[in-house]
Amino acid sequence: MAPRSLSFVLLLVSYAVASNSSATVSASASAFSSSTPVTSSTSSTSSASTSTSGVSASVSTTSSMTSYLATETEPPVFPATDPLYPPPVSADPVIVPDFAPAWAAAYTKATSMISNFTIAQKVNITTGVGWANGLCVGNTPPVGNFPGLCLQDSPLGVRDTDLVTSFPAGITTASTWNRALMRARGLAIGQENRMKGVNVALGPMMNMGRIAQGGRNWEGFGADPFLSGETAYETILGLQAGGVQATAKHYINNEQEWKRTQESSNVDDRTEHEIYAQPFMRAVMAGVSSVMCSYNLINDTYACNNNKTLTDMMKREFGFQGFIQSDWSATMNILSAVAGLDMTMPGDITFDSGTSYFGQNLTDLVMNGTVSMQRLDDMATRIIGAWYYLHQDEDYPNATEVNAQSDHYLIVREIGAAGTVLLKNEGALPLDKPKSIVLVGSDAAPPVSGPNEYTDQGGDPSGILAMGWGSGTDNFTYLISPYEAIQARARVDQTSVFWNFDDWDLASAGNSVIGMETAIVFVNSDSGEGYITVDGNAGDRQNLSAWHQGDQLILAVAAQNNNTIVVTNSVGPLIIEPWVEHPNVTAIVWANLGGNEAGNAIADILYGAWNPSGKLPYTIAKSPTDYPAQLVTGGTAADILSINYTEGLFIDYRWFDAQNITPRYEFGFGLSYTTFEYSNLAIMAINPADSAQMDLVQNWEDGGATPIAQGSTTALWLHMPAYKVTFNVKNTGTLYGGEIPQLYIHHPLSAGEPPSVLKGFTNVEVSPGQTTSVSITLSRYDLSIWDVVRQGWAKPEGTITFSVGASSRDFRLSGTIPS
Ligand code: BGC
Repeated sequence: MAPRSLSFVLLLVSYAVASNSSATVSASASAFSSSTPVTSSTSSTSSASTSTSGVSASVSTTSSMTSYLATETEPPVFPATDPLYPPPVSADPVIVPDFAPAWAAAYTKATSMISNFTIAQKVNITTGVGWANGLCVGNTPPVGNFPGLCLQDSPLGVRDTDLVTSFPAGITTASTWNRALMRARGLAIGQENRMKGVNVALGPMMNMGRIAQGGRNWEGFGADPFLSGETAYETILGLQAGGVQATAKHYINNEQEWKRTQESSNVDDRTEHEIYAQPFMRAVMAGVSSVMCSYNLINDTYACNNNKTLTDMMKREFGFQGFIQSDWSATMNILSAVAGLDMTMPGDITFDSGTSYFGQNLTDLVMNGTVSMQRLDDMATRIIGAWYYLHQDEDYPNATEVNAQSDHYLIVREIGAAGTVLLKNEGALPLDKPKSIVLVGSDAAPPVSGPNEYTDQGGDPSGILAMGWGSGTDNFTYLISPYEAIQARARVDQTSVFWNFDDWDLASAGNSVIGMETAIVFVNSDSGEGYITVDGNAGDRQNLSAWHQGDQLILAVAAQNNNTIVVTNSVGPLIIEPWVEHPNVTAIVWANLGGNEAGNAIADILYGAWNPSGKLPYTIAKSPTDYPAQLVTGGTAADILSINYTEGLFIDYRWFDAQNITPRYEFGFGLSYTTFEYSNLAIMAINPADSAQMDLVQNWEDGGATPIAQGSTTALWLHMPAYKVTFNVKNTGTLYGGEIPQLYIHHPLSAGEPPSVLKGFTNVEVSPGQTTSVSITLSRYDLSIWDVVRQGWAKPEGTITFSVGASSRDFRLSGTIPS
């Protein structure tokens, strides 16, 4: 069928960076228009410089083009250093913010404040007052003029309160591959936290989707460190622009729920740096205020007791200046302060025990010299400093009884649509005034007993799945199901709508779709945090199949209707082999977890109000055993499980590529209702502007590793754009749409890297027949590998090539990094 004109929900994201006001986001849905291109600050399609000065070199490409290498001058470090006023969002960020001056100013104030505090007062700053003993899940007491802090979940909204927005989950946000949307969501969540009087938001969550079953994967940003890092980066810039302190969690290697407090994640140094630490490194570059150490052990030492990860990596190498708090009861003993922990949360050793590893114990250790006064001052300075750094000393609200929602539903709806991935479409979508539609499956329906049927969403969903379960949730103020959204939309087309929400009566499901023009089957798969078990799933998923016999439901419908569209709401990958190639399955819509506008976003995709642009943030395999790592289970109550990260750098698509395993749908894949053509690849070097850094740049160019120094991994020169890749993207279809061009690096074989690693992406929106010029920049960091012997980042010897394309396996152009 020929799709009709598409219309878009326009989101105009505007950042007010006037000196006296906090950054604001305003979102507005335009009237649906069929031909107006989306114009907003979300797109950045700056043209390639045509300067031809400099050395010329050839770039091999798969398209016919004139290749050239030119040079241009490095852009400046963003001068504004205040977290309330971050650099404006850009589809390809070229500006590296420097928050050091803001930290320095905050430290000066903090040092002055604590100068007259007693040891006990300083200790109080570092010690929570006990589980939920205050407005938040974590609270610190007032000390002198410092009012104390309220620390609250969750990564997708404000937990344990009402009149807040339920934003799309982290995994949905990552699936947009759209930095402006990531930033807008962060900002809106930050604003809601501030309105509710929260000082420290306990998110984002940035553990990697190492294992497909991982219970909390949906809170995070997928299975690639670069995509996770960029999503974390934008989210944090947004959250803190909204006024709340952000928390990068869970540091580090907390990739499964089973025995999360009794498992040692055993990870080699290079893998740790290149995969698992990358999002946390980006969090530090975004100026994050707080980091939460995790429950697990790393190489046999508990995360909150781990001097290597806390002090050497986070504070020395990344140059982190905020404070490290423990996960709830993850502090293991009184010496954790020596290892680098700055705050124990929620303060008591076990909930409501009235005891603490800090408190009087820490005071005693300082008194007897085991913990130095300097270290205690450092802890208190970091905590008070972070509070000043976010200007929370200036009129910070402590209200909780407020409606914090504003018009954030518009952002929820747009991210819900932009984070939906179209996996298959045999002409079934977008819907074109169908005569009849049948909605099949409970996932299409509103939950039977309201949107918050279980505490922390911890139960078998009876309706649409719009978030997982656990502390990473909030209470729905309302929840739009597909049933409501599609009915409302069907009224416009005067379509007959039928439904059958019973997942278990397959005969009835099959019968209900006979003779209907379109059958839409909704299936889901849930998971969450390990303190709640749902239907035998103790946090992690027991398998990768759709819940409620979803596979059979789809097959029962497809057996009776040759236009069966499948919509999934899943926390992560599913094995879809039983039905993916069924000739009657004409479309697959991978809708992730949409938050409180989930149904509207799905309807926007089905009807083409949003032309799909989302891309998978993980690989969908043909078999569970195709994935490089599996859940580790078992162990007695006393055992510490060993989880060996033996796949090393080869997680997700890196493994499939290296092992030549064909996935069902690869990382980065996603269809549109239009088509795109790539052409005219070029790459140019960017001259460093800051001559003071030239020695370091030259050392790196000569193959030297970055020095072992304070902040060595986040050094600005290492992250400034060093190369600019440009190319054209043409919309060769008939509908307006967005594309996500991706850039993958191929290191020389001797580097021991996976065949392809994502190092850049951007988003463009193009009208039919139009061509847009696109650029993606690469830093020296992007080209480096972690040298274990020299303990620094270095450029591997040999030729580095790259590809640009529409997924990790759909390369359209290729080139060589000039040496
Ligand atoms: C979770 C954290 C959460 C904390 C406070 C812990 O169990 O792992 O993510 O922030 O509880 O609720």
